[in-house]
Amino acid sequence: MICSNVTYKDNNLYFAGQDVENLAAEYGTPLYLMDEDRIRERCRTYLDAVKKAFNGKARVCYASKAASFKQMYRIMKEEGMGIDVVSSGEILTAKSAGYPLENAFFHSNNKTDEDISFAIENGIGYFVVDNEEELFSIDREAVKRGITQKILLRLTPGIDPHTYAAVSTGQVDSKFGSAIETGQAEEITKTALSLSGISLTGYHCHVGSQVFDSDVFLRAADVMLDFIKEMNDKYGYLAKVLDLGGGYGVRYIESQPEIDIASNIEEVGRFIIKKVKELDIPVPEICFEPGRSIVADAGMTVYTVGTVKRITGYKNYVSVDGGMTDNVRFAMYGAPYTILPVKKMNNCKTMTADVVGRCCESGDIIQKDVCLPDSLKSGDLISTLTTGAYNYSMASNYNRIPRPPVVMLKDGSSFIAVRRETTEDIISLDI
Ligand code: LLP
Repeated sequence: MICSNVTYKDNNLYFAGQDVENLAAEYGTPLYLMDEDRIRERCRTYLDAVKKAFNGKARVCYASKAASFKQMYRIMKEEGMGIDVVSSGEILTAKSAGYPLENAFFHSNNKTDEDISFAIENGIGYFVVDNEEELFSIDREAVKRGITQKILLRLTPGIDPHTYAAVSTGQVDSKFGSAIETGQAEEITKTALSLSGISLTGYHCHVGSQVFDSDVFLRAADVMLDFIKEMNDKYGYLAKVLDLGGGYGVRYIESQPEIDIASNIEEVGRFIIKKVKELDIPVPEICFEPGRSIVADAGMTVYTVGTVKRITGYKNYVSVDGGMTDNVRFAMYGAPYTILPVKKMNNCKTMTADVVGRCCESGDIIQKDVCLPDSLKSGDLISTLTTGAYNYSMASNYNRIPRPPVVMLKDGSSFIAVRRETTEDIISLDI
């Protein structure tokens, strides 16, 4: 099985040690399940790895865009993780969960003045500043309030992470950050150092997501450390923090590798320690910002089959009671997923079918060419594995379809973390 928390027992699918059919009966479908024990295990893997690789002088921030709801921030608080937030909505969710916002890093390439004021009002730890306009807005707000706001500058190191285009962000022409190659990173550094409301703590880069090449982080660190050295030599400014972003890839299907996070971080650690010696600068505090690799395989989505359509001589469709509204990733990126029947049928005849949703849209596909039991029929359950990242957080109400609940699985029991949305919830905004 591609995920160690998924298994069949007596032909019934189990997730995090719990019977998926029973969970579907208790909570209904479509249903997001989240393995809380797995999320905590992943946090600890990262925290242990950075502690070892950087002698404790490092931190891990969960990129909460991957899955953002109160329980996630409670977990992050308890595990001692920092967080990356991208909007006032994520900040408010974290705050409502009692998350200490001094450990939060506020991203986004286009923070509004309202976002900036809201974040400062709520004591955000760091802004990760994308551009000069934003820098000036933060400075204005900080001066008005008589404070000095800690920031990192987001830079683009000019690295292609060899992942899919929609999630590549390290190249010079990215919409994010200031490019080192064009001299704009140096310019914004000078400006930041001249502003009285700003305390420049260091630099940030994030080269992309679903990255499998282990050298991507080494190349990014290489460029960023050279830049830190250059700023030190030219302006006497020594960055205290270097945030290398997130991006480690996860295994959605058999043919993808499983990344060993601990050994990857160890390798990054060795590289950085060697490089700073060569440059004769101190090791900055290193920060990682994983999202997907913390939550992806902690998630599973369960659906009930509605119809099985066989177009004689052409193809088969299995329609489920969810779709692109709860998992837009195939429609958006052609993302691969593994789909399994909740009742395994041994040695049975199989069929190949596209698993599709119930939206009025041909592109409403969860996965193409899935091998399923030929006897699959209306009322049967199927599940998509590895849906913990960027599924719930990217869910929509297209066709006024309510979003599924998120049910956490922990120590052999289950509880609702996000209740099922109702159609009344959706229409309640209409005047
Ligand atoms: N830090 C920054 C600044 C980011 O922009 C991201 C992701 C992360 C960290 C976390 O990256 P991760 O470890 O999750 O790869 N919706 C897309 C993914 C977009 C990623 C956006 N930024 C998807 O479903 O594949």
